[in-house]
Amino acid sequence: MRKKFLFLLLLLWAVSGLQAQDPKMNAFISDLMKKMTLEEKLGQLNLPGAGDIVTGQAGNSDIGKKIKEGKVGGLFNIKSVVKIRAVQKVAVEESRLKIPLIFGMDVIHGYETVFPIPLALSCSWDMQEIEASARIAASEASADGICWTFSPMVDIARDPRWGRIAEGNGEDAYLGSQIAKAMVKGYQGNFSSNSNIMACVKHYALYGAAEGGRDYNTTDMSRVRMYNEYLPPYKAAVDAGVGSVMSSFNEVDGVPATANKFLLTDLLRGQWGFKGFVVTDYTGINEMSEHGLGDLQTVSALALKAGVDMDMVGEGFLTTLKKSLDEGRITIGQIDNACRLVLEAKYILGLFDNPYKYCDEKRAATEIYTEANRKTARQIASDCFVLLKNQGGVLPLKRGGKVAVVGPLGDNKVNMTGTWSVAADFSKANSLLEGLKAVAGANTKVVYARGSNFDYDKAFVERAGIFGKSLGWDQRQPAEITEEALNSCKDADVIVAALGESAEMSGESSSRSNLDIPKAQEDLLEALLKTGKPMVLVLFTGRPLTVKWENEHVPAILNVWFGGSEAGSAIGDVLFGDTNPSGKLSTTWPQNVGQIPLYYNHKNTGRPLPEGQWFQKFRSNYLDVSNDPVYPFGYGLSYTSFTYGDLKLSSNAIKGNQTLKATVTLTNSGSRDGKEVVQLYIRQLVGSITRPVKELKGFQKVFLKAGESRDISFNITPEDLKFYNGDLKYDWESGDYIIMAGGNSRDLKSAKLSWSK
Ligand code: BGC
Repeated sequence: MRKKFLFLLLLLWAVSGLQAQDPKMNAFISDLMKKMTLEEKLGQLNLPGAGDIVTGQAGNSDIGKKIKEGKVGGLFNIKSVVKIRAVQKVAVEESRLKIPLIFGMDVIHGYETVFPIPLALSCSWDMQEIEASARIAASEASADGICWTFSPMVDIARDPRWGRIAEGNGEDAYLGSQIAKAMVKGYQGNFSSNSNIMACVKHYALYGAAEGGRDYNTTDMSRVRMYNEYLPPYKAAVDAGVGSVMSSFNEVDGVPATANKFLLTDLLRGQWGFKGFVVTDYTGINEMSEHGLGDLQTVSALALKAGVDMDMVGEGFLTTLKKSLDEGRITIGQIDNACRLVLEAKYILGLFDNPYKYCDEKRAATEIYTEANRKTARQIASDCFVLLKNQGGVLPLKRGGKVAVVGPLGDNKVNMTGTWSVAADFSKANSLLEGLKAVAGANTKVVYARGSNFDYDKAFVERAGIFGKSLGWDQRQPAEITEEALNSCKDADVIVAALGESAEMSGESSSRSNLDIPKAQEDLLEALLKTGKPMVLVLFTGRPLTVKWENEHVPAILNVWFGGSEAGSAIGDVLFGDTNPSGKLSTTWPQNVGQIPLYYNHKNTGRPLPEGQWFQKFRSNYLDVSNDPVYPFGYGLSYTSFTYGDLKLSSNAIKGNQTLKATVTLTNSGSRDGKEVVQLYIRQLVGSITRPVKELKGFQKVFLKAGESRDISFNITPEDLKFYNGDLKYDWESGDYIIMAGGNSRDLKSAKLSWSK
């Protein structure tokens, strides 16, 4: 009897995600599913792209017909509340069971009000601002009919050749996890209002570890590395209650993530307790045939069995699962489970109560791209910029006099929003020139000259300027274009060189093997430097670039990434010192491509370099370049300076589950108010497996007035010492530890202690 009961309980648990938590939802969905045919269940698992929908005739389009037949569970990347209402109407009035559709979109860093690209946002180290950006994105998207976003993207990336590094939060699992939580919270809230949308954490898993930084390439790593260094941000999103997960294109352990039962079921649901649904990436199931796992029927069955619930675009589920069921390759329980999870998401979003919950035309007219949202975007953007160098006080600029803006990105609007800004009207963004002029005011003369084409290679320039983000092409000889710029600089007090990557040089399918600023722009930079004028390089990029030469020769460098709709104004704010820069890098910037992967939390190896040396034979190093980065993880300057006192620990020998207090006195030793990100790192000196030379374990972004000092404390518990050991057990170990604190991962104050169980 008892066994039977336990078995029943287990069965209940196995067939449903959230049912144990919400009996009302469970009963509603069970009731609905009793009425569904097999075809209608498979329809719920189908997520096509928007296709050929025309307002007014939504029902007559190919997609419309499929919706009426109950063959569609949701749609994605449709922009406009009017269209979405029209399509939803087809679903709830003309399909047999009137099941509402879920509407998704890649709302990655803002909707129409675009925030900086995610890699830039991560450099703010400001969780409130990051959460606010997600909340505004959700409120604008939901005002336009969207209830589900394919964000946050939390793939750890240590290889800047990979263009999608732009979409994530950098190289560190701890920082990435904090951001994952903040984003999920910002998007979803508690689903209490129609301005909360469902998040989808992606790309699960390890997509950022593509070999050679080549997009979609093979990934392979040890479980220990996976658990400690790559998986935590996905888990953090799950812990924060993310409603959905997207499986990645790459393979893990020789099995594409989309058919990987270990990832999608054992780990995600079994170990982490994920209750939502799993959607594939775009044609992720079909691509498994190219991976070499079999025909569409085979790979579709594999995906379902591994734990995929919804099939994006490929229609493998829709067209083959019935046959697989008839042939006994899959079970009806597996289909029911997937269908239930998709229906639960719709229930949680409130779509069964009101299918038009997110279709409020009034909100669409008044709550998108508002003054208030743009103001927040401007503030956030200026907090993401990273001041990489400022020699001789070039920055901040003084008002009055003449500023010469030079460079192909100096007066370009359409590249300001960066990659993945699908809902944006690029032409609404403000360019650096516009922003600078407005912030400078009438007493400052601001002139502009292009100076060079984006690069010498026209075909490359076209590839770098796709998706309506043209970089233009000046037919004149390069020398003539540069000459014109040099003339414009003649009586200038300062040169602002606006150079770097274009928006589409990073993002999906935008890998690079060379991380220099394109050659035509480098040559321009050299020519500008020869004028001997004070100069600032305003660097646009979606990834760390190799700027060793620039760092050695240009007096001031402000990295502005792609700052979103308000990028130009925000750049103006920072250049003129109305905002003091406070961004810190979330990635290491290498000297050259050959050093990649270069990351701060590496292992010591058995042959580390002796302190203070950059080369020694039979040590782990290169013959031709030191192991140092140009800029370390966590690095970024301010217009003021911060000094750190010695690190004080509340104890040097701790036992058991106590709290250690680590305190450092931070002083704003400059003449301006400013914000500093105080970073806490820990090193475990002896472990059962090798441990990183340091790991970020905490940070605080603090504001100090000029001259002000403050004690900054971190409370450290054994929880902060835990890691996955060789048996993949999450625990901490007795032994010696070094605690470090400072303004970046290189320049740190440290203290040692022993901590025993
Ligand atoms: C990308 C995803 C994205 C999806 C839907 C894919 O190509 O890898 O990040 O969410 O398309 O647009």
